[in-house]
Amino acid sequence: MDGQQGALENHAERDEKRLWELRELLHKAAHAYYVLDQPIMADETYDQLYRELLDLEQRYPQWVTPDSPTQRVGGAPSQEFPSITHPTPLYSLDNAFDLADMRAWQDRWQKLWGEKLPEDLYICELKIDGLALNLFYEQGVLVWGATRGDGVTGEEITANVRTIRSIPLRLQTRQPPAQVEIRGEAFLPQPVFRQLNQERQERGEPLFANPRNAAAGTLRQLDPRVVAQRRLDFFAYGVGRGVDVTSQSETLALLAEWGFRTNPHSQVCADLAQVQRYYETWAQKRQELPYGTDGVVVKVNDLGMQTALGFTHKSPRWAIAWKFPAETGVATLLGVTVQVGRTGTLTPVAELTPVRLAGTQVSRATLHNNQRLQELDLHIGDRVVVRKAGEIIPEVVQVLRELRPAEAVAYQFPTHCPECGEPVVQVAQEAATRCINRHCPGVLREQINHWASRDALDIRGLGGKAAQKLVEMGWVKSVADLYDLTEAQLASLERWGAKSAANLIAGIDRSRQQPWTRVLYGLGVRHVGTGTAALLATHFPSATRLRDADLEELCAIPGIGSEIAQAVQTWFADAENQALLARLAQAGLHLSHDPGGNATGPLSGKILVLTGSLPNLTRSQAKALIERAGGKVGSSVTARTDYVVVGEEAGAKLEKAVALGIPLLSEAELVALVGEG
Ligand code: IVH
Repeated sequence: MDGQQGALENHAERDEKRLWELRELLHKAAHAYYVLDQPIMADETYDQLYRELLDLEQRYPQWVTPDSPTQRVGGAPSQEFPSITHPTPLYSLDNAFDLADMRAWQDRWQKLWGEKLPEDLYICELKIDGLALNLFYEQGVLVWGATRGDGVTGEEITANVRTIRSIPLRLQTRQPPAQVEIRGEAFLPQPVFRQLNQERQERGEPLFANPRNAAAGTLRQLDPRVVAQRRLDFFAYGVGRGVDVTSQSETLALLAEWGFRTNPHSQVCADLAQVQRYYETWAQKRQELPYGTDGVVVKVNDLGMQTALGFTHKSPRWAIAWKFPAETGVATLLGVTVQVGRTGTLTPVAELTPVRLAGTQVSRATLHNNQRLQELDLHIGDRVVVRKAGEIIPEVVQVLRELRPAEAVAYQFPTHCPECGEPVVQVAQEAATRCINRHCPGVLREQINHWASRDALDIRGLGGKAAQKLVEMGWVKSVADLYDLTEAQLASLERWGAKSAANLIAGIDRSRQQPWTRVLYGLGVRHVGTGTAALLATHFPSATRLRDADLEELCAIPGIGSEIAQAVQTWFADAENQALLARLAQAGLHLSHDPGGNATGPLSGKILVLTGSLPNLTRSQAKALIERAGGKVGSSVTARTDYVVVGEEAGAKLEKAVALGIPLLSEAELVALVGEG
C-alpha cells in the first residue's frame, strides 16, 4: 500500500466514523423532538448535521441503509399499494355506549373467569381517532408498515409510514426481537387537520369530515412527499407477538423504551367505578387535546388473563371501546331554508332527517354561506355528514357523493331575499350574500329580536314571533317604535290577552333603565358584540362621543381593530341611524353613562367571576372595583357569567369558562374596562 492510498483509506475511515456518529445523533435528536417533546438541539443545528450526513451518504452510497434518518422521505410515488397479510391479525373492538354496556361486558368476561381478580384490573387508554397501523420490524429495523385493512390483509404503505417522525426506523434496544409487529394509531394533529381543511376550502375542494378521514386520506396518498408535508403522528399501543411482558402497562413502557410515542394519559384502574371516572374526565377534557379521541379503550391489564379470555370471531373479550357521544353522523338532506340575519346576511340552513350528535337530537345544521354551499355541490336528497363538536352549532361538513340518489336535484341559492323579494348582493371580499333592503321585514324582525335579547335591552316576551307580528302589523319600523306601542294596541292582537300585552309594555318600559353599554350592543353594529360594546362604552361614555370619534381614536383602544373601528364609523355616520338615536334619546333610553350611580356603570348587570391570584389587586379590591362599576361577583362559573377574570394559577373555573366560551379578562383588561386605570 503506498502512502497516498493509505491516507485515502484513513480518510474513508474517518468519514465512516463520522457518518455513524451523525446518524446516532440525528436519531436521538428526532426522538427527543418528535416522541419526547423535549428538543435537545436547535432546529438549525439539526438541519446542519442532516446536510452533513446527506453529503457523506452521497459520497459513500454503500453505507446508506433504510434506517438512516435521511431515508424517511424521498420514495417515488407508487402506482398503487400492494396488499400484505398481517403475520398476526388485527382485531377490532366491541363498542359500549353507557355504563350499562360496560357492566354487561364485565359480567360477560367475569363469568368465564373463575379465579381471583388482581388489584390493578383494568387499564384505560384514550381511543385515538385515526387509522390503525401494523409495523413490522426485523432485527430491530422497520421493514414494512401497513394499514389494518380488514384485519387480515392491509395495504402496504411503508414509504408513507417512514415519513412519520415518531415512528422509529430502528428500535432503540441492543437486543431487539428477531421479528416483532407494533400496533398503534396514526393520526393528524388537530391544528394540522384544521389547517388542511382551511386550505381545501380555499381551493374549493371537499372538506375532510373528521381527523380520521383526513389521516386515512393522507396515508393513502401515493406520493410520500405529500404525506411528509402533512406531519402525521403516531401513538403505539400494542405488540403483535413475541415480547416478554406480563401486562399492558408493561407493554406501553416497553414501547416507549424502544423509541415510540405512547399516549401519556393511559391509567391503571382497580374497578369499573374508576374506569367511569376516567371516562367522564376525558369526555369533558378531550376538547383540549391536540388530537381527536372518540372514546376510551378499556383493557384487562394482565396479559395472562387476556390470553385466557381470548377472542370472539372479531374482537377480544378482554377489551372494549367505551365511545364518547358521537360528534359526526350521517343524515339525509330534506331541504334548505335561507335565514336572514339582522345585518341582512343570508344563511343557508340544512333541514335534515334527525341524527343524534354529541348527546342531542339534530335536524338542522348550518351551511354557513353560499360559497360553502357551492363547494359542497349540494343536492336535495343527498346523504351528508353533519358535525356537532362541543358547544359549536351543528354544521354540514361533507356530501357523500357516492350515495347520491339518481333523482337528487342540485340546490340553487336564491337570487332574491326570501323575506322581502329584493335582489340580494354578493359582498366583494366576503363569502356573505346580503339583502341590502333597508326596509326588509326579515332584517327588521331580527333587529328587534336582537334589541330585546338578554344581553341587550333584555325585554322578556319579545321574541321572534312577537317581533314578526309587530312588523307585519306595520307598527314597528325601527326599534324606536317599540316605545310608542300601547297596551290597547297589543291587546287588540289575535291571541294576545290583556295580561301579555301589559307584561310586554312593562318590559319595554323597564328597558329604558338599561345602561348605555347594553343600548350600544342592542343597536347591532357589525362586529360589536357584548365585550366590544362594553369596551367602547367605557372609552366613549356617550353616543355623541362615540359618533365623533375618528378611526385613530377608536383603533387606539386595545381590543379594537380597524375592522371594528370602520364598522362603528360607518354606522354612526349614517343619517337614518342618527335619526334612530335621536328618537331613542327622546324615548328616554340611556345614550350615555350616568356618572353618579352604578346602575349605569360599565359593568352594570354583569356577573364576573374571579379565579387565580391577580398581579396587583387583592380579591377584595377586585370585588370592590367590580361593584363600583355596577357589576356583581359570582362564586362559580355558569352560562350566566359575563366575564371571568383570570390570574396566576387559575384552576377549574378557567377550564369551565373556556368550555362555556365565556370571555376572559386579565387584571389589566378589567381595570381598562371599568375605566379606573
Ligand atoms: S386496541 C385487540 N387501543 O380502535 C385490540 N385500539 O376498533 C385492538 N384504537 O382498530 C385495538 N386507540 O384503530 C386499541 N389505545 C387504543 C386505540 C385503539 C385507537 C383504534 C384502532 C382499532 C380500533 C378498534
